Amino acid sequence: MRWVLPEDRIPTAWFNVTPHLPAPLQPPLHPVTREPIGPDDLAPLFPMALIGQEVTTDPWVDIPGEVLDVLRSWRPTPLVRAERLERALGTPARIYYKDESVSPAGSHKPNTAVPQAFYNRGEGTARLATETGAGQWGSALAYSCALFGLECKVYMVRASFEQKPYRRVMIETWGASVEPSPVDDPASPGSLGAAISDAVRDVVTHERSHYALGSVLNHVLLHQTVIGLEAKEQLQLAGERLPDIIIGCCGGGSNLGGISLPFVPDAGVELLAVEPTACPTLTKAPFDYDFGDTAGLTPLLAMYTLGHDFMPSSIHAGGLRYHGAAPIISNLVQHGRMRAVAYPQLKVFDAAVQFARTQGTIPAPETAHAIRAVIDEALAAKESGEEKVILFSYSGHGLLDLGAYDDYLHGRMTDA
Ligand SMILES: Cc1ncc(COP(=O)(O)O)c(C=O)c1O
Repeated sequence: MRWVLPEDRIPTAWFNVTPHLPAPLQPPLHPVTREPIGPDDLAPLFPMALIGQEVTTDPWVDIPGEVLDVLRSWRPTPLVRAERLERALGTPARIYYKDESVSPAGSHKPNTAVPQAFYNRGEGTARLATETGAGQWGSALAYSCALFGLECKVYMVRASFEQKPYRRVMIETWGASVEPSPVDDPASPGSLGAAISDAVRDVVTHERSHYALGSVLNHVLLHQTVIGLEAKEQLQLAGERLPDIIIGCCGGGSNLGGISLPFVPDAGVELLAVEPTACPTLTKAPFDYDFGDTAGLTPLLAMYTLGHDFMPSSIHAGGLRYHGAAPIISNLVQHGRMRAVAYPQLKVFDAAVQFARTQGTIPAPETAHAIRAVIDEALAAKESGEEKVILFSYSGHGLLDLGAYDDYLHGRMTDA
């Protein structure tokens, strides 16, 4: 079964979790002075509207009509009950997922790419530069820039650039240009941190250029809350009150934040982050101030971090290979409002294939991390006999990740 809201039920304001956090967020620090930064420090990178959203404590932020007009071309997204998976598992749990794979780029990423392009165009930006890991964010921003008439330059982690030619082609089809990163070290497979450094260096040397980030920052998570807001309404249509547990994979934390932040005030709802054991930010790393990029050009953020020079192994879930986690997600984990687990790659692909063979659709490797945890929660519910309601974010499809599936199906995949 699926629940689809009519177009006019799209949320018209984003939910700001800041007033509901268990403790105040620690301010970002200037990379050189290590003093709290102000709006002027961020102005070379972002438009003022987004800087304002980064620090706002308003409980709701209105979504501009022009942004809603674009979001409505695929939103509200369906809420689907994974009944065939439930039956295959023999679980009394009811499993629901919010299908963010139906966007033009195939993931949740356009939910923030569209407003970021909109606000930049409104303040006279002509060109945006960004990083991309697996290519999902780069394609979402390229699509959004095409709609708002902006030039777009994408620095793509070299390992993905080589493994995933079709994501590059998508980005180019929407009119953006792509360059493998790190630009100054062709022998390196690259990392998201290094690609952010390339993009930041680019915008400070180009006229009327700004930087756009696909995750981590407060305004990005804010834009993604449309996912959870719609899901809350759709669960009611499905006859549920609230979910017992919400599960999302966590790279920088934007799809996880999107589905879970509107439920933070609902004390009984458990929140679970899922990450790869190859990049165990929330499960193993210390909480500290660290740079968002490898070269140390960005402000220092208070977050769980593996260190800004962390070089992850080339696991297939490129979108989950970031050294840090959003300050908002880190805050929730640090103060016990959210839990985190990590899984190795082979177990993740076992779950991805089980999902594809029951529900039919093929998830992105990132999304499959959430599915692994969903299956384990549903099996635990079977053990205990609990009728748990599980909600998860189906953050993207895996139709351009078939090389990873090929490796898995033919015994070439390892856990590292
Ligand atoms: C399909 C999909 N899910 C999840 C992620 C992880 O990012 P975030 O933690 O910001 O949701 C990505 C990142 O590229 C992705 O492509």
